[in-house]
Amino acid sequence: MKSERVFITGCGGMLGSAIYPFFASRYEDVLASDRIVNEKWLVRLDVRDDDHLARMFKEYRPDIVLHLAAETNLEYCETHPEITIATNAVATRNIAKLSEEYGAMLIYISTAGVFDGKKSGFYTEEDQPNPIMVYGRTKYEGELYALEHCSRTFVVRAGWMMGGGRDKEKKFIFKILEQVAQGKKEIFAVNDKWGTPTYTYDFAMNLFRLMETEKYGTYHMVCEGEGSRYDVAEEILKICGISDIDLVPVGSGYFEKEYFAPRPRSEIMSNANLGKHGINFMRPWRESLSDYIKNYFFDFMRQPGLHQKERRKHRREDCGIPVTYSIKGEAGNILYSGILIDKCVSGAGIITGTALQAGQIIVFRDKEGTLTPDAGREHSLCAENSFRVGLESLNAGHFSAVKVLQVKTKDFFQDNEVEIRRLNTIPGMLL
Ligand SMILES: NC(=O)c1ccc[n+]([C@@H]2O[C@H](COP(=O)([O-])OP(=O)(O)OC[C@H]3O[C@@H](n4cnc5c(N)ncnc54)[C@H](OP(=O)(O)O)[C@@H]3O)[C@@H](O)[C@H]2O)c1
Repeated sequence: MKSERVFITGCGGMLGSAIYPFFASRYEDVLASDRIVNEKWLVRLDVRDDDHLARMFKEYRPDIVLHLAAETNLEYCETHPEITIATNAVATRNIAKLSEEYGAMLIYISTAGVFDGKKSGFYTEEDQPNPIMVYGRTKYEGELYALEHCSRTFVVRAGWMMGGGRDKEKKFIFKILEQVAQGKKEIFAVNDKWGTPTYTYDFAMNLFRLMETEKYGTYHMVCEGEGSRYDVAEEILKICGISDIDLVPVGSGYFEKEYFAPRPRSEIMSNANLGKHGINFMRPWRESLSDYIKNYFFDFMRQPGLHQKERRKHRREDCGIPVTYSIKGEAGNILYSGILIDKCVSGAGIITGTALQAGQIIVFRDKEGTLTPDAGREHSLCAENSFRVGLESLNAGHFSAVKVLQVKTKDFFQDNEVEIRRLNTIPGMLL
Protein backbone atom coordinates (compact mmCIF):
# COMPACT_ATOMS: atom_id res chain seq x y z
CA MET A 1 0.00 0.00 0.00
CA LYS A 2 1.21 3.48 -0.80
CA SER A 3 1.56 5.91 2.03
CA GLU A 4 0.69 9.23 0.33
CA ARG A 5 -2.46 10.90 1.61
CA VAL A 6 -5.15 11.22 -1.06
CA PHE A 7 -7.89 13.83 -0.87
CA ILE A 8 -10.85 13.63 -3.27
CA THR A 9 -13.60 16.22 -3.88
CA GLY A 10 -16.98 15.46 -5.48
CA CYS A 11 -16.39 11.76 -4.88
CA GLY A 12 -20.05 10.85 -4.38
CA GLY A 13 -20.80 11.05 -8.11
CA MET A 14 -20.42 8.82 -11.17
CA LEU A 15 -16.68 9.02 -11.50
CA GLY A 16 -16.08 9.02 -7.75
CA SER A 17 -17.79 5.65 -7.44
CA ALA A 18 -14.94 4.14 -9.52
CA ILE A 19 -12.16 6.41 -8.28
CA TYR A 20 -12.75 5.77 -4.57
CA PRO A 21 -12.41 1.97 -4.44
CA PHE A 22 -9.55 2.12 -6.88
CA PHE A 23 -7.55 4.52 -4.73
CA ALA A 24 -8.67 2.99 -1.43
CA SER A 25 -7.20 -0.33 -2.54
CA ARG A 26 -3.80 1.23 -3.20
CA TYR A 27 -3.41 4.01 -0.69
CA GLU A 28 -3.53 3.64 3.09
CA ASP A 29 -5.04 7.03 3.64
CA VAL A 30 -7.88 8.31 1.45
CA LEU A 31 -10.20 11.14 2.43
CA ALA A 32 -13.14 11.34 0.04
CA SER A 33 -15.59 14.23 0.19
CA ASP A 34 -18.73 15.54 -1.46
CA ARG A 35 -21.31 18.16 -0.67
CA ILE A 36 -23.86 15.44 0.09
CA VAL A 37 -22.73 12.43 2.08
CA ASN A 38 -24.33 9.51 0.22
CA GLU A 39 -21.74 6.85 1.15
CA LYS A 40 -20.26 5.75 4.46
CA TRP A 41 -16.78 6.55 3.21
CA LEU A 42 -17.55 10.18 2.41
CA VAL A 43 -17.14 13.31 4.49
CA ARG A 44 -19.04 16.49 3.80
CA LEU A 45 -17.35 19.31 1.93
CA ASP A 46 -18.88 21.94 -0.31
CA VAL A 47 -15.91 23.14 -2.33
CA ARG A 48 -17.37 26.64 -2.43
CA ASP A 49 -16.83 26.93 1.32
CA ASP A 50 -13.34 28.50 1.33
CA ASP A 51 -12.83 28.25 5.09
CA HIS A 52 -13.83 24.61 5.27
CA LEU A 53 -11.60 23.81 2.31
CA ALA A 54 -8.60 25.55 3.88
CA ARG A 55 -9.25 23.76 7.21
CA MET A 56 -9.36 20.41 5.46
CA PHE A 57 -6.03 21.00 3.73
CA LYS A 58 -4.48 22.16 7.00
CA GLU A 59 -5.71 19.17 8.97
CA TYR A 60 -5.26 16.48 6.33
CA ARG A 61 -2.19 17.79 4.47
CA PRO A 62 -2.83 15.79 1.29
CA ASP A 63 -0.06 14.63 -1.03
CA ILE A 64 -2.46 13.97 -3.90
CA VAL A 65 -5.65 15.94 -4.63
CA LEU A 66 -8.24 14.56 -7.03
CA HIS A 67 -10.64 17.38 -7.80
CA LEU A 68 -13.84 15.90 -9.22
CA ALA A 69 -16.46 18.22 -7.73
CA ALA A 70 -18.38 20.11 -10.37
CA GLU A 71 -21.81 21.16 -11.50
CA THR A 72 -22.24 18.69 -14.34
CA ASN A 73 -25.84 19.18 -15.43
CA LEU A 74 -25.56 21.38 -18.51
CA GLU A 75 -29.08 22.78 -18.24
CA TYR A 76 -28.61 23.63 -14.55
CA CYS A 77 -25.31 25.32 -15.44
CA GLU A 78 -27.01 27.47 -18.12
CA THR A 79 -29.71 28.63 -15.71
CA HIS A 80 -27.44 28.98 -12.65
CA PRO A 81 -24.25 30.55 -14.02
CA GLU A 82 -23.14 32.09 -10.72
CA ILE A 83 -23.30 28.83 -8.79
CA THR A 84 -21.56 27.11 -11.69
CA ILE A 85 -18.73 29.66 -11.82
CA ALA A 86 -18.27 29.38 -8.06
CA THR A 87 -18.16 25.58 -8.17
CA ASN A 88 -16.34 24.80 -11.39
CA ALA A 89 -13.97 27.73 -11.68
CA VAL A 90 -13.47 29.67 -8.43
CA ALA A 91 -13.31 26.59 -6.19
CA THR A 92 -10.79 25.04 -8.59
CA ARG A 93 -8.61 28.13 -8.25
CA ASN A 94 -8.69 27.81 -4.45
CA ILE A 95 -7.98 24.09 -4.57
CA ALA A 96 -5.04 24.68 -6.94
CA LYS A 97 -3.57 27.34 -4.64
CA LEU A 98 -3.95 25.13 -1.59
CA SER A 99 -2.46 22.16 -3.43
CA GLU A 100 0.58 24.24 -4.30
CA GLU A 101 0.86 25.53 -0.73
CA TYR A 102 0.89 22.00 0.67
CA GLY A 103 3.13 20.59 -2.10
CA ALA A 104 0.41 18.27 -3.42
CA MET A 105 -0.09 16.83 -6.88
CA LEU A 106 -3.41 18.08 -8.32
CA ILE A 107 -5.55 16.07 -10.70
CA TYR A 108 -8.33 18.16 -12.18
CA ILE A 109 -10.97 16.33 -14.20
CA SER A 110 -12.15 18.28 -17.20
CA THR A 111 -14.27 17.64 -20.24
CA ALA A 112 -14.50 17.42 -24.02
CA GLY A 113 -17.10 20.18 -23.57
CA VAL A 114 -14.28 22.77 -23.62
CA PHE A 115 -14.25 22.51 -27.43
CA ASP A 116 -16.68 24.23 -29.79
CA GLY A 117 -17.31 21.04 -31.78
CA LYS A 118 -16.52 22.49 -35.18
CA LYS A 119 -13.53 20.29 -35.89
CA SER A 120 -14.00 17.28 -38.10
CA GLY A 121 -11.91 14.47 -36.76
CA PHE A 122 -10.46 13.86 -33.33
CA TYR A 123 -9.62 16.69 -30.93
CA THR A 124 -6.15 16.37 -29.46
CA GLU A 125 -4.54 18.26 -26.60
CA GLU A 126 -3.02 20.60 -29.22
CA ASP A 127 -6.44 21.97 -30.21
CA GLN A 128 -7.53 25.29 -28.78
CA PRO A 129 -10.59 25.11 -26.48
CA ASN A 130 -13.46 27.43 -27.34
CA PRO A 131 -16.39 26.48 -25.12
CA ILE A 132 -19.92 27.33 -26.21
CA MET A 133 -21.90 26.83 -22.98
CA VAL A 134 -21.62 27.78 -19.31
CA TYR A 135 -20.49 24.30 -18.25
CA GLY A 136 -17.67 24.20 -20.81
CA ARG A 137 -16.60 27.78 -20.11
CA THR A 138 -16.38 27.25 -16.36
CA LYS A 139 -14.57 23.93 -16.72
CA TYR A 140 -12.07 25.57 -19.06
CA GLU A 141 -11.54 28.40 -16.56
CA GLY A 142 -10.96 25.69 -13.98
CA GLU A 143 -8.30 24.15 -16.24
CA LEU A 144 -6.49 27.46 -16.61
CA TYR A 145 -6.60 28.13 -12.86
CA ALA A 146 -5.36 24.64 -12.05
CA LEU A 147 -2.40 24.93 -14.42
CA GLU A 148 -1.60 28.48 -13.33
CA HIS A 149 -1.67 27.97 -9.57
CA CYS A 150 -0.35 24.47 -9.02
CA SER A 151 2.95 23.40 -10.53
CA ARG A 152 2.20 19.67 -10.26
CA THR A 153 -1.12 19.63 -12.13
CA PHE A 154 -2.65 17.05 -14.40
CA VAL A 155 -5.69 18.31 -16.31
CA VAL A 156 -7.46 15.19 -17.53
CA ARG A 157 -10.33 15.55 -19.99
CA ALA A 158 -12.99 12.85 -20.10
CA GLY A 159 -15.68 12.31 -22.72
CA TRP A 160 -19.26 11.06 -22.34
CA MET A 161 -19.00 9.47 -18.93
CA MET A 162 -20.51 6.06 -18.32
CA GLY A 163 -20.35 4.50 -14.89
CA GLY A 164 -21.83 4.50 -11.44
CA GLY A 165 -24.74 2.15 -12.14
CA ARG A 166 -28.34 2.71 -11.16
CA ASP A 167 -27.63 4.89 -8.12
CA LYS A 168 -25.10 7.28 -9.60
CA GLU A 169 -25.34 7.26 -13.37
CA LYS A 170 -27.06 10.46 -14.44
CA LYS A 171 -26.26 10.32 -18.08
CA PHE A 172 -27.14 8.71 -21.35
CA ILE A 173 -26.73 4.99 -20.68
CA PHE A 174 -29.13 4.97 -17.77
CA LYS A 175 -31.58 7.19 -19.62
CA ILE A 176 -31.79 4.63 -22.40
CA LEU A 177 -32.04 1.68 -19.98
CA GLU A 178 -34.69 3.50 -17.98
CA GLN A 179 -36.85 3.64 -21.09
CA VAL A 180 -36.24 -0.05 -21.69
CA ALA A 181 -37.37 -0.73 -18.12
CA GLN A 182 -40.48 1.36 -18.68
CA GLY A 183 -41.40 -0.93 -21.54
CA LYS A 184 -41.06 1.71 -24.26
CA LYS A 185 -41.37 0.26 -27.72
CA GLU A 186 -39.84 3.29 -29.40
CA ILE A 187 -36.72 5.10 -28.24
CA PHE A 188 -35.42 8.29 -29.83
CA ALA A 189 -31.71 8.97 -30.02
CA VAL A 190 -29.79 11.88 -31.45
CA ASN A 191 -27.68 11.19 -34.52
CA ASP A 192 -26.15 14.61 -35.09
CA LYS A 193 -23.84 14.84 -32.04
CA TRP A 194 -20.68 12.83 -31.81
CA GLY A 195 -18.43 12.02 -28.92
CA THR A 196 -16.29 9.44 -27.22
CA PRO A 197 -17.75 7.46 -24.33
CA THR A 198 -15.49 7.11 -21.29
CA TYR A 199 -15.93 4.27 -18.83
CA THR A 200 -15.19 5.43 -15.29
CA TYR A 201 -13.43 2.19 -14.44
CA ASP A 202 -11.01 2.41 -17.39
CA PHE A 203 -10.50 6.07 -16.62
CA ALA A 204 -9.55 5.32 -13.01
CA MET A 205 -7.16 2.55 -14.08
CA ASN A 206 -5.41 4.71 -16.63
CA LEU A 207 -5.27 7.70 -14.29
CA PHE A 208 -3.10 5.76 -11.92
CA ARG A 209 -0.62 5.07 -14.69
CA LEU A 210 -0.61 8.70 -15.72
CA MET A 211 0.09 9.90 -12.17
CA GLU A 212 3.11 7.66 -11.95
CA THR A 213 4.75 9.44 -14.91
CA GLU A 214 4.76 12.78 -13.09
CA LYS A 215 4.68 14.33 -16.57
CA TYR A 216 2.30 17.12 -15.70
CA GLY A 217 0.09 18.90 -18.20
CA THR A 218 -3.13 18.36 -20.14
CA TYR A 219 -4.33 14.93 -21.23
CA HIS A 220 -7.32 13.44 -22.98
CA MET A 221 -8.49 10.17 -21.46
CA VAL A 222 -11.40 8.65 -23.35
CA CYS A 223 -12.25 5.20 -24.64
CA GLU A 224 -11.04 4.42 -28.12
CA GLY A 225 -13.27 5.23 -31.08
CA GLU A 226 -16.21 7.55 -31.53
CA GLY A 227 -19.91 7.45 -32.18
CA SER A 228 -23.17 9.36 -32.08
CA ARG A 229 -25.69 9.09 -29.26
CA TYR A 230 -27.67 6.91 -31.64
CA ASP A 231 -24.69 4.57 -32.08
CA VAL A 232 -24.34 4.23 -28.32
CA ALA A 233 -28.07 3.52 -27.88
CA GLU A 234 -27.93 0.94 -30.66
CA GLU A 235 -25.00 -0.79 -28.98
CA ILE A 236 -26.80 -0.84 -25.61
CA LEU A 237 -29.77 -2.64 -27.13
CA LYS A 238 -27.46 -5.03 -28.95
CA ILE A 239 -25.56 -5.91 -25.76
CA CYS A 240 -28.82 -6.50 -23.92
CA GLY A 241 -30.10 -8.69 -26.75
CA ILE A 242 -33.17 -6.50 -27.21
CA SER A 243 -34.58 -6.48 -30.69
CA ASP A 244 -38.21 -5.48 -30.26
CA ILE A 245 -37.58 -1.80 -29.58
CA ASP A 246 -37.64 0.62 -32.46
CA LEU A 247 -34.63 2.91 -32.18
CA VAL A 248 -35.47 6.11 -34.01
CA PRO A 249 -32.69 8.49 -35.14
CA VAL A 250 -33.54 12.15 -34.56
CA GLY A 251 -31.76 15.49 -34.79
CA SER A 252 -30.92 17.28 -31.53
CA GLY A 253 -33.76 19.70 -32.22
CA TYR A 254 -36.12 16.90 -31.15
CA PHE A 255 -34.99 17.29 -27.51
CA GLU A 256 -34.37 21.04 -27.53
CA LYS A 257 -36.93 21.83 -24.84
CA GLU A 258 -35.48 19.35 -22.38
CA TYR A 259 -31.82 19.74 -23.35
CA PHE A 260 -31.66 23.41 -24.16
CA ALA A 261 -28.00 24.02 -23.29
CA PRO A 262 -25.83 24.37 -26.41
CA ARG A 263 -23.81 21.23 -27.05
CA PRO A 264 -20.83 20.91 -29.39
CA ARG A 265 -21.55 19.03 -32.61
CA SER A 266 -18.44 16.96 -32.02
CA GLU A 267 -16.74 16.04 -28.74
CA ILE A 268 -14.63 13.35 -30.31
CA MET A 269 -11.21 13.21 -28.69
CA SER A 270 -8.13 11.06 -29.01
CA ASN A 271 -5.60 10.33 -26.28
CA ALA A 272 -2.62 11.73 -28.14
CA ASN A 273 -0.53 12.62 -25.09
CA LEU A 274 -1.19 9.31 -23.33
CA GLY A 275 -0.07 7.63 -26.56
CA LYS A 276 3.17 9.64 -26.61
CA HIS A 277 4.06 8.33 -23.16
CA GLY A 278 3.04 4.78 -24.08
CA ILE A 279 0.32 4.68 -21.43
CA ASN A 280 -2.88 4.71 -23.45
CA PHE A 281 -4.62 1.64 -22.06
CA MET A 282 -8.13 2.88 -22.79
CA ARG A 283 -10.27 0.23 -24.45
CA PRO A 284 -12.66 0.55 -27.40
CA TRP A 285 -15.88 2.03 -26.05
CA ARG A 286 -18.05 -0.86 -27.20
CA GLU A 287 -15.99 -3.30 -25.14
CA SER A 288 -16.14 -1.06 -22.07
CA LEU A 289 -19.87 -0.47 -22.50
CA SER A 290 -20.43 -4.21 -22.60
CA ASP A 291 -18.50 -4.63 -19.34
CA TYR A 292 -20.40 -1.79 -17.74
CA ILE A 293 -23.78 -3.24 -18.62
CA LYS A 294 -22.76 -6.72 -17.48
CA ASN A 295 -21.55 -5.35 -14.17
CA TYR A 296 -24.35 -3.00 -13.30
CA PHE A 297 -27.36 -3.74 -15.46
CA PHE A 298 -27.11 -7.47 -15.66
CA ASP A 299 -30.84 -7.82 -15.28
CA PHE A 300 -31.40 -5.98 -18.57
CA MET A 301 -29.55 -8.67 -20.47
CA ARG A 302 -32.43 -10.72 -21.63
CA GLN A 303 -34.50 -11.50 -24.60
CA PRO A 304 -38.01 -10.18 -24.14
CA GLY A 305 -40.78 -12.55 -25.01
CA LEU A 306 -38.95 -15.62 -23.80
CA HIS A 307 -40.62 -17.82 -21.25
CA GLN A 308 -39.27 -16.94 -17.81
CA LYS A 309 -37.65 -20.31 -17.35
CA GLU A 310 -35.89 -19.98 -20.66
CA ARG A 311 -34.81 -16.51 -19.69
CA ARG A 312 -33.14 -17.81 -16.57
CA LYS A 313 -31.36 -20.36 -18.68
CA HIS A 314 -30.28 -17.62 -21.02
CA ARG A 315 -28.91 -15.55 -18.18
CA ARG A 316 -26.98 -18.46 -16.90
CA GLU A 317 -25.55 -19.19 -20.30
CA ASP A 318 -24.58 -15.54 -20.58
CA CYS A 319 -22.47 -15.89 -17.48
CA GLY A 320 -20.81 -19.11 -18.41
CA ILE A 321 -20.58 -21.95 -15.95
CA PRO A 322 -20.99 -20.72 -12.38
CA VAL A 323 -17.86 -21.16 -10.33
CA THR A 324 -17.95 -21.63 -6.59
CA TYR A 325 -15.69 -19.51 -4.48
CA SER A 326 -14.98 -19.06 -0.84
CA ILE A 327 -13.70 -16.10 1.06
CA LYS A 328 -11.29 -17.10 3.77
CA GLY A 329 -10.42 -15.35 6.99
CA GLU A 330 -6.82 -14.80 8.02
CA ALA A 331 -6.79 -18.06 9.98
CA GLY A 332 -7.82 -19.88 6.82
CA ASN A 333 -11.38 -20.39 8.02
CA ILE A 334 -14.11 -19.99 5.45
CA LEU A 335 -16.03 -16.81 6.17
CA TYR A 336 -18.56 -17.51 3.50
CA SER A 337 -18.81 -18.92 0.06
CA GLY A 338 -21.03 -18.51 -2.90
CA ILE A 339 -21.17 -18.61 -6.63
CA LEU A 340 -19.39 -16.42 -9.07
CA ILE A 341 -21.90 -15.85 -11.83
CA ASP A 342 -20.07 -13.44 -14.02
CA LYS A 343 -16.51 -12.27 -14.27
CA CYS A 344 -15.01 -9.97 -16.82
CA VAL A 345 -12.09 -7.58 -16.94
CA SER A 346 -13.76 -4.83 -15.03
CA GLY A 347 -15.87 -6.64 -12.52
CA ALA A 348 -17.71 -9.66 -11.28
CA GLY A 349 -21.13 -10.62 -10.10
CA ILE A 350 -21.57 -13.00 -7.23
CA ILE A 351 -24.47 -14.58 -5.48
CA THR A 352 -23.84 -15.11 -1.82
CA GLY A 353 -25.77 -15.94 1.30
CA THR A 354 -23.99 -13.12 3.12
CA ALA A 355 -24.53 -9.41 2.57
CA LEU A 356 -21.30 -7.62 1.88
CA GLN A 357 -20.93 -3.92 2.58
CA ALA A 358 -20.59 -1.60 -0.39
CA GLY A 359 -16.99 -0.43 -0.49
CA GLN A 360 -15.69 -3.64 1.09
CA ILE A 361 -12.62 -4.85 -0.74
CA ILE A 362 -12.21 -8.49 -1.62
CA VAL A 363 -9.28 -10.31 -3.11
CA PHE A 364 -9.92 -13.26 -5.37
CA ARG A 365 -6.92 -15.43 -5.84
CA ASP A 366 -7.36 -17.30 -9.04
CA LYS A 367 -6.33 -20.92 -9.26
CA GLU A 368 -5.09 -21.25 -5.71
CA GLY A 369 -6.40 -24.51 -4.41
CA THR A 370 -9.70 -26.26 -4.67
CA LEU A 371 -12.68 -26.78 -2.53
CA THR A 372 -13.82 -30.27 -1.65
CA PRO A 373 -17.30 -31.22 -2.84
CA ASP A 374 -18.52 -31.06 0.75
CA ALA A 375 -17.57 -27.43 1.08
CA GLY A 376 -20.12 -26.64 -1.58
CA ARG A 377 -22.79 -27.21 1.04
CA GLU A 378 -21.52 -24.37 3.14
CA HIS A 379 -23.21 -21.68 1.21
CA SER A 380 -26.87 -21.09 1.70
CA LEU A 381 -27.77 -20.35 -1.86
CA CYS A 382 -30.62 -22.76 -1.97
CA ALA A 383 -32.36 -20.57 0.56
CA GLU A 384 -35.16 -18.39 -0.70
CA ASN A 385 -33.22 -15.15 -0.46
CA SER A 386 -29.60 -14.41 -1.11
CA PHE A 387 -27.58 -11.41 -2.17
CA ARG A 388 -26.44 -10.45 -5.58
CA VAL A 389 -23.29 -8.39 -5.22
CA GLY A 390 -21.76 -6.37 -8.00
CA LEU A 391 -17.99 -6.18 -7.69
CA GLU A 392 -15.92 -3.55 -9.40
CA SER A 393 -12.50 -4.78 -10.33
CA LEU A 394 -9.69 -2.67 -8.96
CA ASN A 395 -6.54 -4.43 -10.05
CA ALA A 396 -5.39 -8.01 -10.39
CA GLY A 397 -7.67 -10.02 -8.17
CA HIS A 398 -8.91 -7.06 -6.13
CA PHE A 399 -12.61 -6.31 -6.21
CA SER A 400 -14.75 -3.80 -4.40
CA ALA A 401 -18.38 -4.47 -3.59
CA VAL A 402 -20.38 -1.72 -5.24
CA LYS A 403 -23.92 -2.94 -5.20
CA VAL A 404 -25.56 -5.31 -2.78
CA LEU A 405 -29.06 -6.40 -3.69
CA GLN A 406 -31.31 -8.88 -2.00
CA VAL A 407 -32.52 -11.32 -4.61
CA LYS A 408 -34.58 -14.40 -4.83
CA THR A 409 -32.16 -17.17 -5.57
CA LYS A 410 -34.63 -18.87 -7.82
CA ASP A 411 -34.57 -15.90 -10.18
CA PHE A 412 -31.04 -16.80 -11.04
CA PHE A 413 -31.04 -20.53 -10.91
CA GLN A 414 -33.51 -22.93 -12.33
CA ASP A 415 -35.67 -25.01 -10.07
CA ASN A 416 -34.55 -23.13 -6.99
CA GLU A 417 -31.40 -25.15 -6.79
CA VAL A 418 -27.82 -24.35 -7.28
CA GLU A 419 -26.01 -26.70 -9.48
CA ILE A 420 -22.34 -26.74 -8.71
CA ARG A 421 -20.74 -27.82 -11.89
CA ARG A 422 -17.16 -26.94 -11.17
CA LEU A 423 -15.49 -27.21 -7.87
CA ASN A 424 -12.36 -25.34 -8.68
CA THR A 425 -12.54 -22.40 -6.37
CA ILE A 426 -11.23 -18.94 -6.18
CA PRO A 427 -10.22 -18.61 -2.56
CA GLY A 428 -9.91 -15.07 -1.38
CA MET A 429 -9.86 -13.10 1.79
CA LEU A 430 -11.45 -9.99 3.12
CA LEU A 431 -9.14 -7.08 3.55
N1 LIG B 1 -20.44 13.24 -16.51
C1 LIG B 1 -19.75 13.44 -17.63
O1 LIG B 1 -20.20 13.07 -18.72
C2 LIG B 1 -18.39 14.09 -17.57
C3 LIG B 1 -17.66 14.18 -18.74
C4 LIG B 1 -16.40 14.77 -18.71
C5 LIG B 1 -15.90 15.25 -17.51
N2 LIG B 1 -16.64 15.17 -16.38
C6 LIG B 1 -16.05 15.71 -15.16
O2 LIG B 1 -15.79 14.63 -14.29
C7 LIG B 1 -15.89 15.06 -12.91
C8 LIG B 1 -16.76 14.10 -12.15
O3 LIG B 1 -18.08 14.19 -12.66
P1 LIG B 1 -19.10 12.97 -12.68
O4 LIG B 1 -19.21 12.51 -14.06
O5 LIG B 1 -18.76 12.01 -11.60
O6 LIG B 1 -20.44 13.76 -12.38
P2 LIG B 1 -21.29 13.82 -11.05
O7 LIG B 1 -21.87 12.49 -10.81
O8 LIG B 1 -22.22 14.98 -11.22
O9 LIG B 1 -20.22 14.10 -9.93
C9 LIG B 1 -19.85 15.39 -9.52
C10 LIG B 1 -19.95 15.42 -8.02
O10 LIG B 1 -19.59 16.73 -7.55
C11 LIG B 1 -20.55 17.09 -6.58
N3 LIG B 1 -20.61 18.53 -6.37
C12 LIG B 1 -21.30 19.45 -7.09
N4 LIG B 1 -21.13 20.65 -6.54
C13 LIG B 1 -20.31 20.50 -5.47
C14 LIG B 1 -19.80 21.36 -4.50
N5 LIG B 1 -20.08 22.66 -4.52
N6 LIG B 1 -19.00 20.87 -3.53
C15 LIG B 1 -18.70 19.54 -3.50
N7 LIG B 1 -19.19 18.66 -4.36
C16 LIG B 1 -19.98 19.13 -5.36
C17 LIG B 1 -21.83 16.55 -7.12
O11 LIG B 1 -22.82 16.53 -6.15
P3 LIG B 1 -24.38 16.58 -6.59
O12 LIG B 1 -24.68 15.27 -7.22
O13 LIG B 1 -25.08 16.82 -5.31
O14 LIG B 1 -24.50 17.70 -7.58
C18 LIG B 1 -21.39 15.17 -7.58
O15 LIG B 1 -21.42 14.24 -6.51
C19 LIG B 1 -16.43 16.48 -12.98
O16 LIG B 1 -15.38 17.39 -12.75
C20 LIG B 1 -16.97 16.63 -14.38
O17 LIG B 1 -16.90 17.97 -14.84
C21 LIG B 1 -17.87 14.58 -16.38
